[in-house]
Amino acid sequence: MAELRQKIAVLGAGNIGGSLIGGILKAGLTTAQRVRATTKSHEHAQQLAQRFMIPVTAGGNLAAVQDSDVIIVGVKPTAVAGLIEEIRPGLRPGQILVSLAASVPLPVIEKHAGSPMAVFRAMPNIPVVVEEGATGISYNAVATQADKDVVEQIFRSVGIVCFVEEDMMDAVTALSGSGPAYVYMVIEALIAGGVKMGLSREVSTKLAEQTVLGAAKLVRETGLHPAVLRDQVITPGGVTISAIHELERHGLRAMLISAVETATMHSRKKTGMLTA
Ligand SMILES: NC(=O)c1ccc[n+]([C@@H]2O[C@H](COP(=O)([O-])OP(=O)(O)OC[C@H]3O[C@@H](n4cnc5c(N)ncnc54)[C@H](OP(=O)(O)O)[C@@H]3O)[C@@H](O)[C@H]2O)c1
Repeated sequence: MAELRQKIAVLGAGNIGGSLIGGILKAGLTTAQRVRATTKSHEHAQQLAQRFMIPVTAGGNLAAVQDSDVIIVGVKPTAVAGLIEEIRPGLRPGQILVSLAASVPLPVIEKHAGSPMAVFRAMPNIPVVVEEGATGISYNAVATQADKDVVEQIFRSVGIVCFVEEDMMDAVTALSGSGPAYVYMVIEALIAGGVKMGLSREVSTKLAEQTVLGAAKLVRETGLHPAVLRDQVITPGGVTISAIHELERHGLRAMLISAVETATMHSRKKTGMLTA
């Protein structure tokens, strides 16, 4: 990965923001001298500063912005408007502003930012913590291809990146943003199934987690449709088809489709509330 020359400020370096800093530094995308961060509490600021050997301040958002080219806003959605108003005097054309907040639309961010600048919305998910995140990104009309390249590089340091139209961000939130929670339930249930059938919890856990990891890897590496891969492991009259019948009877696929649909609708409602 080519090294970025831009100075990066992560305002609100919590779970996601902190993981991004870790990923950027580990990937060698930039050096610790070109990254800084802010938090709310002094205690957390100290912890991060020690962990990453970068300047971290409790507050001090405006100062961080004045000294940076890429500003990543990692605070909770309800705190985004206030934070952007706070940093507004330090924002200038040529900088790149990236919001991680769910349900805060680009026009709202642009309105608070004031000056015409490249604005991105990124929806990562929690596996960014282990550099296996999935991030959906949309951007405003000011953003150039060069800006897109910078933002893509940042999020690729913690996983994969997909660019989408902004009206698809609620679907991204519902699929990959919330998705780890659905998959955790699947893993949890597989573990319970193994335990019910007499496997130790330890063995069940190891087998279930690796099964999900390995199956996902096979989808990615073969490029085959999951239904094709599924059919490849089904023997006529065999064990797997008896389980598949059970899953179909209980509507596993319909349930997951509905879950993504319901979550998208809920996210749209929240986006509407934050737009108003
Ligand atoms: N978690 C997810 O799976 C996920 C997925 C996609 C997107 N997101 C989005 O990512 C954002 C952050 O989520 P998160 O899970 O990382 O939350 P988090 O761990 O609570 O992080 C928020 C951070 O913001 C800091 N903060 C609050 N007010 C601040 C201020 N005025 N100035 C500077 N820092 C301030 C907090 O500091 P302290 O630590 O000192 O309190 C905390 O470190 C949210 O907008 C969320 O919608 C989250």
